[in-house]
Amino acid sequence: MAGEKILVVDDEQSMTQFLGIVLRKEGYQVVTVNSGREALDKVKAETFDAVISDIKMPGMDGIQVLQEIKKHDSNIPVVLMTAYASQQSAIDAVNLGAFQYLLKNAKNDEIKLVVRNALEMRRVRSENQFLKRELKRGHEEKAIIGSSEEMTRVFKMVDKVADSEATILIQGDSGTGKELIAREIHYRSRRANGPFVSINCGAIPRDLLESNLFGHVKGSFTGAVKDSPGLFQVAESGTFVLDEVGEMPLATQVKLLRALQEREIIPVGGTQPVKIDCRLVAATNVDLEKEVAEGRFRADLFFRLNVIPLRMPALRQRRDDIPLLVDHFLKRHARGGTCKVVTKEAMELLMKYDWPGNVRELENVMERAMILDEGGSIGPEDLPDKIRFGHSQKGSLVIDSPNMTLDELEKEYILKVLNYTRWQKKRSSELLGINASTLYRKLINYGIEKPAGTRDEGDDIMSDSGEAAA
Ligand SMILES: Nc1ncnc2c1ncn2[C@@H]1O[C@H](COP(=O)(O)OP(=O)(O)OP(=O)(O)O)[C@@H](O)[C@H]1O
Ligand SMILES: [Mg+2]
Repeated sequence: MAGEKILVVDDEQSMTQFLGIVLRKEGYQVVTVNSGREALDKVKAETFDAVISDIKMPGMDGIQVLQEIKKHDSNIPVVLMTAYASQQSAIDAVNLGAFQYLLKNAKNDEIKLVVRNALEMRRVRSENQFLKRELKRGHEEKAIIGSSEEMTRVFKMVDKVADSEATILIQGDSGTGKELIAREIHYRSRRANGPFVSINCGAIPRDLLESNLFGHVKGSFTGAVKDSPGLFQVAESGTFVLDEVGEMPLATQVKLLRALQEREIIPVGGTQPVKIDCRLVAATNVDLEKEVAEGRFRADLFFRLNVIPLRMPALRQRRDDIPLLVDHFLKRHARGGTCKVVTKEAMELLMKYDWPGNVRELENVMERAMILDEGGSIGPEDLPDKIRFGHSQKGSLVIDSPNMTLDELEKEYILKVLNYTRWQKKRSSELLGINASTLYRKLINYGIEKPAGTRDEGDDIMSDSGEAAA
């Protein structure tokens, strides 16, 4: 329990000194500041487990400090101190979310007890959050489905290596579940409480990639207005995934190799090395051995990454898993408690198809089928032509309403998809096979608006304008 970090705020230095002595004796790390402004700057720059603040201070007072801290992180317990036992300020403080208030003439034991309780609450709150996240992860979408021989082999391997520190290279075609497995490895490792950080090396321009990986120092390039840590540092004590590592430029590969050998990085434009402490997982859907043979990937880096190779089987190599996955996706997208079924004919088609896009493709096909199907059972007519007929037959599309124009049909289908995804931009555009900005344009053209009262699912089509880069 010792070592928790506490911020003490009081305009009177004698008070911050006194509390510093009392709390450090208890084994806590204590940071003291003498104004509300400084307190806020500290809270934004570092992580604290609790804050103790005077109420009456010139400039920003304790109540304002409390409110601002709650905005920043509602989980930090804030204890407010007051010189007088005024009933009103105590009630105000607690109403505004203070953990407790403390009289300035309180005995040392009382101070220690209040702090210990505050820290205990902090611990319980963050544990609860962690458990909730885990539950969500476990029961919602992150379950990894598969009972085929090939997947059993993957699971056994994950069991064996998750808790080691060794670097893992996950190879497999697109959509086979590489990211899912990387997450699983993290959550089963002793680093599970640390961050899970992933970067897509193929999606980021080269100079940005290096500053993302290693960080940069102020002034090292236009736009570098302050020192910035790299993702290697963000992943400190957790797991760092280099996704699409095969796309990394050769020059960056050299720097990565050095980082892995020395266990330290040098920020772009800097000279001072920074120690790194994270578990590395690399993933790729290109054949890295071939890349090495053809000179596009450094052999020495390949051997560094390929300490433990893990190969994700293509879906067509494990067709036994298809019915399980179908069932999984049906359940996951069940609406209002009713779960659709797949007819025998449709299942036969799904088993026969080759799935070049692997599980991701199956997931998309199932979602589309669930939208198209009006009754409760998904039949061949709800599947794409290439699965139904073995190839695309553009001319065979059956239109229920021959009176509709093409535009009307498109509008209706877009609406159907939006309602299905509860207006999630990214999902909807994926299902429609268009990019998000095209979808946005079509919404404006067709005058489609989000109906009032639609629940916001966190990816609001009318307000979300861009995606994160990494
Ligand atoms: N075994 C599985 N069980 C359940 N869902 C899976 C499984 N494998 C993959 N998926 C789902 O398929 C989709 C693609 O998986 P993921 O992103 O892990 O693939 P990937 O191999 O990283 O693909 P890419 O190379 O295109 O990045 C995700 O939505 C994932 O949840
Ligand atoms: Mg991936």
